[in-house]
Amino acid sequence: MPNSVIVGAQWGDEGKAKVIDYLTEHSDIIIRFQGGANAGHTVIVDGKKFVFHLVPSGLMYPGKVCIVGNGVVFDPEQFLHEVDELDEHGISVKDRLFVSDLAHMVLPYHKAQDNASESTMGKGKIGTTGRGIGPAYADKVSRTGIRVGDLLNWDTFTAKFRQMFAQKRQLIEKIYNTEFVLNESDILDNYKKIRERMLPYIIDTTYYLFDSARNKKQLLFEGAQGTFLDIDHGTYPFVTSSNTISGSASTGCGIGPTLIDHVIGITKTYTTRVGNGPFPTELDNALGEKIRKDGGEFGATTGRPRRCGWFDSVMVRKAIQLNGMTRLALTKLDVLSDLDEIQICTHYEINGKKTDQYPSSCLDLEKAIPVYESIDGWKCDITRCTKISDLPSKALAYYNRLLKLCYDVPALIVSVGPDRNQTIEVTPLD
Ligand code: IMP
Ligand code: MG
Repeated sequence: MPNSVIVGAQWGDEGKAKVIDYLTEHSDIIIRFQGGANAGHTVIVDGKKFVFHLVPSGLMYPGKVCIVGNGVVFDPEQFLHEVDELDEHGISVKDRLFVSDLAHMVLPYHKAQDNASESTMGKGKIGTTGRGIGPAYADKVSRTGIRVGDLLNWDTFTAKFRQMFAQKRQLIEKIYNTEFVLNESDILDNYKKIRERMLPYIIDTTYYLFDSARNKKQLLFEGAQGTFLDIDHGTYPFVTSSNTISGSASTGCGIGPTLIDHVIGITKTYTTRVGNGPFPTELDNALGEKIRKDGGEFGATTGRPRRCGWFDSVMVRKAIQLNGMTRLALTKLDVLSDLDEIQICTHYEINGKKTDQYPSSCLDLEKAIPVYESIDGWKCDITRCTKISDLPSKALAYYNRLLKLCYDVPALIVSVGPDRNQTIEVTPLD
């Protein structure tokens, strides 16, 4: 199988983990390259649900190697928690899970800062996951971050930690006017133990990946969040703090872009968003509520109800452009099975003008009025369909129209239910 990057085409939660799980069988190494424990990747195998926040979900397959790349902001407590959870389920990660020494750490003060910042933003708050992601990336770029590799030398780590801890106390108490409840020596005691446990996982992942690629190992790059949460191209400021698009796979794990053969964009057959920010096709009504209920649309990380709306082809076309998608994976088609009529947004009207471009400014996007095309619902169960030709004709019409509006990028798969086997294969990777 070729080396592929998986990215979300919307605002995250497109069902990436399911597609990663599907492709993992044919891959050797699965790599996370951005984001952190803000992700919530849900995999369901034999009816059993696993949610991964930080480790690549490829660990579910025995023998696969998983890597956390340098572009990730790494929370060691969460990481070890997930390792323990896998262990409880009899899944060993020994010698097949590695973390880049260059990845920046999310430390307890980052979470405190995330929450203090959000609580002082009033209406302008972003609605973050509270996992310390923004402050950790900010420290990285400010060159005051602490990297995983710093754990290798305890004295280096403690010196850096003490300095930053004092700064964060000032920031949170004096600027955010919030109580700073963290205790330095408690955290250091805990990190001494964390350090011991982390040592076997820390390597220079760039050499590991380069050598693996030279030895024709198949690489699968697992994106987190989605295109419109990208720090540059998303609905700024209501975005996450990393580049979520496919190009980030290169910088986020130190491989040249020429190693990437395919970019697979995952999109729901409708749209959801968790957190604040504009959402042109949002259904803030009973229909949106129905989709939320039928689709189980609640955040895997925070449990927050996801905002739901119609499929927005303007958005997905822009995602195809930004990521260079060579395949689309369409998910959750079964969730729409009970609707009489389904709408697809074909373009927008902004200030009375028709446009099929996704505005780069959030303020313009707020003004976008979606223009819809209506398609008949199919009103029957499709969760047992195993081939495209098994779909009822009305579901097939919706599927075909959707792809047509998405530059006819071929579909890799269509997902008709949460389980691993509820996956219709369409156009394999070549
Ligand atoms: P942060 O990444 O926690 O800073 O949150 C910034 C924005 O990104 C918020 O709107 C979050 O709800 C959203 N977000 C972050 N991670 C995810 C994800 O994995 N899925 C969906 N939304 C996310
Ligand atoms: Mg998610």
